[in-house]
Amino acid sequence: MNIHESEKIAGTLEDLGYSMCESTEDADIIVFNTCCIRDNAEKRALGNIGAIKHLKKAKPGLIIAVVGCMTQQDGAGLNLRAKYPYVDIVLGTNNLFELESCIKKIKQSGNKSVLIDPNEYPQVLENEKIYRTSGCNAWLNIMYGCNNFCTYCIVPYVRGRERSRKMANIIDEFKSLLDQGYKEITLLGQNVNSYGHDLSDGSNFATLLEKISQINGKYRVRFMTSHPKDLNREVIDIIAQSSNICNNIHLPIQSGSNKILKLMNRHYTREYYLDTVEAIKSKIPDCGITTDLMVGFPYEEEQDFEDTLDIVRRVKYSSAFTFIYSIRKGTKAAQMPQISPQVSKERITRLIAEQNKVTKELSKGYEGKSYEILCEDNAPKKDGYVCGRTDSGRMVTFKGDKSLIGSFVNVTIEKSQSASLFGKITEEE
Ligand code: 5AD
Ligand code: SF4
Repeated sequence: MNIHESEKIAGTLEDLGYSMCESTEDADIIVFNTCCIRDNAEKRALGNIGAIKHLKKAKPGLIIAVVGCMTQQDGAGLNLRAKYPYVDIVLGTNNLFELESCIKKIKQSGNKSVLIDPNEYPQVLENEKIYRTSGCNAWLNIMYGCNNFCTYCIVPYVRGRERSRKMANIIDEFKSLLDQGYKEITLLGQNVNSYGHDLSDGSNFATLLEKISQINGKYRVRFMTSHPKDLNREVIDIIAQSSNICNNIHLPIQSGSNKILKLMNRHYTREYYLDTVEAIKSKIPDCGITTDLMVGFPYEEEQDFEDTLDIVRRVKYSSAFTFIYSIRKGTKAAQMPQISPQVSKERITRLIAEQNKVTKELSKGYEGKSYEILCEDNAPKKDGYVCGRTDSGRMVTFKGDKSLIGSFVNVTIEKSQSASLFGKITEEE
């Protein structure tokens, strides 16, 4: 979501005549697109804003803007202005479209802008300028905001309530991306499965996926993120039936303990979650399932953590994002008794080790088999090699020229090393 928002910021700047430069020293404008989902993301953003103070002294005409969800927290806009007076523009998540007018204003009159209004959620914007940076992959927003209020999460406070784009506009953007040559399109939303609930035309995620999958052409569709309480059987069936929709579902469970899930306000139990996973595996046997896991949530005891480990062993995720819970001011969980950081650190180490075991075991299962790969990029630090993903989302490195980037190739997996798969092209399509 943040990468795509940065693409929109870059699109606005490009439209104003700016072009990308290599170093901050060369820049005429620097825009920090911040995130406040966890404490370390926020600290990093503040550290980066602090680190360019000297540039403004050396080049007074330099424009510095801070945007994104960090600025949208209570009082954050004014705090930023007080602590970092050299910042010229502060914008929230829902009024990024004002960037253009703020830049013009500062150039014309030197007037700084702090424009945050967390209570006003404008209509969904269409026809945004986008400077795409992800090769043959493109991101496509289908909705904004979240209504769920998980007790640990700041997102509903800083991004507002759910707003869905009209299906016709999404389809138009999708077709235009295919016309521009993009091969893989990832549908984005905080909770894609509630797409359409706020529209009065009967649209929902299942019908959107079905309509998209009927568009002519050779392409892949991914989507994120699915809330386990909302991922229904209809969506699973459509994925199973469609060759364009990747067999890959990101299904954040957060915790394997019913006690913790209730405290988190997640609205599902481990049994309900495992039932959904069972339905996915029976309908889509090769589906890559990934997740987000959190340790150290208030009241988490050893048994609760063991329940999370048990889920990792049962589901066999192809990969997992693992986080230590961090307090977000203004959320319900911030009022709950916090557990010791040492306990959280010890648990995350054990959790990562458990997931690594699963990933290694799954990787072995890929050896000797052939997969269709969308060649996406040069392999990092490996001259003469390229990389791309299987339909299920696993990254594979193989020998090949960069001219293959953007095309589909068949690759046989020769060897695996923990999470990495290495193969050789058996056939180009
Ligand atoms: N602390 C730690 N992790 C969090 N996430 C969201 N809020 C917090 C928090 N306060 C994680 C969740 C979510 C992912 C995007 O970030 O696992 O799924
Ligand atoms: Fe945050 Fe929960 Fe919404 Fe995800 S579903 S963005 S975790 S409140």
